[in-house]
Amino acid sequence: MRPKGAVEAEIVRLLKGAGSFVSGEALSRGLGVSRTAVWKHINALKKSGYNIDSVTAKGYRLIPPYPFNDIEVASGISTGFVGKKVFFFERTDSTNRRAFELGLKGEGEGTAVIADAQDKGKGRLGRTWESPGGVNLYTSVILRPPIAPREAHELTFVMAIAVAETVAKSSGKRPTVKWPNDILINGKKAAGILLEMDSESDRVHFVVGGVGVNLNMRKKEFPPVIRETATSLFEETGVEIERAEFARRLYSSIELWYKIYLDKGFQAVLDAWRGWFDSEGTRVRVTSFDRVLEGICAGVDKDGALLVRTPSGTVERVISGDVEAAV
Ligand code: BTN
Repeated sequence: MRPKGAVEAEIVRLLKGAGSFVSGEALSRGLGVSRTAVWKHINALKKSGYNIDSVTAKGYRLIPPYPFNDIEVASGISTGFVGKKVFFFERTDSTNRRAFELGLKGEGEGTAVIADAQDKGKGRLGRTWESPGGVNLYTSVILRPPIAPREAHELTFVMAIAVAETVAKSSGKRPTVKWPNDILINGKKAAGILLEMDSESDRVHFVVGGVGVNLNMRKKEFPPVIRETATSLFEETGVEIERAEFARRLYSSIELWYKIYLDKGFQAVLDAWRGWFDSEGTRVRVTSFDRVLEGICAGVDKDGALLVRTPSGTVERVISGDVEAAV
């Protein structure tokens, strides 16, 4: 038996592929279901927000724009497990919270949660993440790596590469990564990553990798406090980004880098991450717990910790914190 929504997603894929009318007969043959079942699935698609033209003797035709939902994400997905199963919410408190609950209930690796809007989007270090509806991507993926809790931060780097790569592919702009995992375009933050995990002392049960990407948000929609430091792909390119397509690309990239992490180890990931990191050699101010450090960034060490050469010449190692450019 196919998973829920799979036939709808396949119909969408077939109709998009044809680009014009496809007969009920052809759909029924292609999907291996009855004509009545096709008709029922078409009605379900209409209820899900698709605009479908039905003409006697011609069949069905999909009319853009397409809605943003789980069917749309599933309709072109090419991954093995990441994003293969999506829980979609028009509105929720936080996709990380939803994914965490699903993880506790035993939901499998790769399952994703997407929300059109979040009421309590969570950022790093107890901050909030601005999450209006209709414009951006808010998604969280459950991963179950066979690692110890002290290694879990390594997945931050996996996620950062995946987001940077997807932003580059979708916008044509080359983003940079601010340690450990802010994604910047032209020095402004376009995406953030929040990792949360459930573990026992020596074993991770699961990690939730939450990603927020400002895709189509306009400058005036950003709250004044972040208006000058945040940006969106639309603001940088003038082009609207199709959210479902961005999500599919992101899931492919997460899957690719997660497999590299599991097969080749953290150093392979870190080497790739360094290609997106451009703070080495620049003056930085780092706030880590209660400590503020200023100095020249000396890169990251083999564990992914940030290295800062202070004016006294010592090199300090930072494992958690916030980095900003210093003058
Ligand atoms: C940061 O502070 O840079 C991290 C922001 C992470 C935001 C995303 S949006 C999807 C997921 N759900 C959340 O509540 N937070 C993350």
